[in-house]
Amino acid sequence: MRAMSCPAYGPPDVLELRELPTPEPGADDVLIRVRATTVTAADCAFRSGRPFVARLYSGLLRPRFAVLGGAFAGDVVAVGADVRRFSAGDRVLGLSPNDFGTHAEFLCLPQDRPMARITSALSYVEAASVVEATTALTFLRDVGPVRPGQKVLVNGATGSVGSYGVQLAKHYGAEVTAVCGPANADLARSLGADRVVDRTRTDPTLPGAPEHRLQDVFFDAAGKSSFVRARRALTPTGTYLTTAPGPSALFHSLWTARGRGRTCRFAATGLRQSPDNLAHLDALAGSGAIRAVIDGVYPLADLVEAHRRAESGHKAGTVVVTC
Ligand SMILES: NC(=O)c1ccc[n+]([C@@H]2O[C@H](COP(=O)([O-])OP(=O)(O)OC[C@H]3O[C@@H](n4cnc5c(N)ncnc54)[C@H](OP(=O)(O)O)[C@@H]3O)[C@@H](O)[C@H]2O)c1
Repeated sequence: MRAMSCPAYGPPDVLELRELPTPEPGADDVLIRVRATTVTAADCAFRSGRPFVARLYSGLLRPRFAVLGGAFAGDVVAVGADVRRFSAGDRVLGLSPNDFGTHAEFLCLPQDRPMARITSALSYVEAASVVEATTALTFLRDVGPVRPGQKVLVNGATGSVGSYGVQLAKHYGAEVTAVCGPANADLARSLGADRVVDRTRTDPTLPGAPEHRLQDVFFDAAGKSSFVRARRALTPTGTYLTTAPGPSALFHSLWTARGRGRTCRFAATGLRQSPDNLAHLDALAGSGAIRAVIDGVYPLADLVEAHRRAESGHKAGTVVVTC
């Protein structure tokens, strides 16, 4: 099978198109013909080896995972003797958060991994993008549950995480303020944002700024703000949710863990996914509650370009790769 291999840490050019053996499913495994996958910030970190702390998981001197890629949409082509949940011919979407390997034509996973049948009319490209909504789902439904009528601010509202954050916060009945660059204001409105703040013109956390409002939840999807700044825009019991696991976020998460005031919460969402989450997102897409937001689509052979785009820090939605 064709796969994009990452033989060494470095810039996107280290990636190489290779012919690798197609995996054989064991008794409990599902073999998937990957039709679409994504390139995320995690792929870029595990390719570049930066931040260095990422190497504790991905290998100290050289990458432990030959093929990167976590999200996928495709077809089940074979199942092991003990597999009951899937059959050959099923269209599926899912995550391979532990071992990666989706930047390839075929992927073999145990049947209990976070994957589900696609029952909606999502295309493979759309379904691979919708898998990225797992991050916003975990933050807004589980970590800092959003309730109807709450005020929610999404910082980085049009990125891969934020674009689903806006849609899910609206789905949960929140009044949503989207903070993004000026080029993406229309996109943020189309996702359902009630108010759009141009981050290049105003800092909505500054008391006295025209856009300053007290929020119940400040979802820092971009991971570019901080608890210290965001607390100025939080109600006395508001929650700051951040995707960025910096020392400040970890310190404030511990510091505010038992408090009754403003709280800071961080989560590594990839390891908290379940088959139900994927089925739920497929259902939300099927009902029109969320839609896929796609920055661009690249063939597998152009994965180097896809990585360059993904690490630009300014994508609008998800970078999707077809295999
Ligand atoms: N904790 C977890 O489990 C988890 C899971 C997934 C991702 N992440 C992290 O989440 C972060 C975002 O990932 P992503 O895939 O959504 O990235 P992305 O698609 O590249 O989006 C980044 C967004 O940040 C905005 N942005 C850039 N500079 C900014 C600034 N100075 N202030 C505010 N916004 C700014 C960009 O929008 P404009 O240019 O339009 O402003 C863009 O919309 C990454 O750090 C990633 O590592 C964490």
